Amino acid sequence: MTEIVSFAVASPVFCMAGYRSPLKDLQIAPNLATCKYPSCSSHMLLARLHIYLHDIAVLTRDAGGPKTTRREPSISVHEQTDAAGILAAHKAVGHHIPGRRLQQRLGNGLRFLRMDAAGAPVATTWVVGGGGRYIDELNWLLPMAPDELWVRDVFVMPSWRGRRLFADIATCLADRGDGQPRRVWSDVDWLDAASMRAHQTAGFRVVARVRALDFAGRVRLRSALPSWPLPVREIDPTSRLILLRGSRLRRHRELIA
Ligand SMILES: CC(C)(COP(=O)(O)OP(=O)(O)OC[C@H]1O[C@@H](n2cnc3c(N)ncnc32)[C@H](O)[C@@H]1OP(=O)(O)O)[C@@H](O)C(=O)NCCC(=O)NCCS
Repeated sequence: MTEIVSFAVASPVFCMAGYRSPLKDLQIAPNLATCKYPSCSSHMLLARLHIYLHDIAVLTRDAGGPKTTRREPSISVHEQTDAAGILAAHKAVGHHIPGRRLQQRLGNGLRFLRMDAAGAPVATTWVVGGGGRYIDELNWLLPMAPDELWVRDVFVMPSWRGRRLFADIATCLADRGDGQPRRVWSDVDWLDAASMRAHQTAGFRVVARVRALDFAGRVRLRSALPSWPLPVREIDPTSRLILLRGSRLRRHRELIA
């Protein structure tokens, strides 16, 4: 029943935004070449109605994935834990993070890494490890094995883009430091062609394409939870239609990072 109601509500909205089929076309994407581009004007109209569409690729880079070696200059990775240093590193690469979001990330156990080349910052990223990645657009807290990492908000300085820096970052993150490789996870806006290409070059593959239709941040109609290697417990992962209020809304706000 929920499925039928959900489909009736979602169909016109997804069609307005240029999607072919809202709830049937949610299977694992076979490759990265099937990106669809809904028109921008439809998205803007929906935003004015406080309706948002999220179309997300979940990707993984298998442990022992391809190694890339930069010719020159090589990159070095530096972890920073203090808020002032993190803000300064963001600024140095032309990125920005609101102070509240920064504190939420640190509070939720995310780690911040700065990548330098030729002695200057060229990229930043956050990583989630030893727990789970909360995909707030879908309200899923996806657990990982203890030695795995999830890349969050990677940002390459504009003047360094297109030079395969992201592939180097992925290689660095895939190295556990004890000679053993680790699995790395990521999620990307399906329509972000540059990021999807960068992930492909870095050896990631799409394991799921998932979507959510959000009404004013309170009601969400979302894809079925994809098959996941570990049990997913939050937030109410089996419901396709989720209402965010009361304790659920509080938990959602706690988990956002
Ligand atoms: C997405 C991003 C991390 C990719 O890093 P990168 O080191 O530039 O990756 P690559 O060098 O592999 O380039 C990937 C794609 O970027 C595009 N690109 C190339 N030169 C570019 C430039 N000067 N500016 C912007 N994009 C460029 C190309 O489409 C390229 O794909 P190709 O394989 O067809 O050449 C980087 O573009 C970035 O920081 N973007 C802004 C933040 C962002 O979107 N982060 C993603 C969050 S998941």
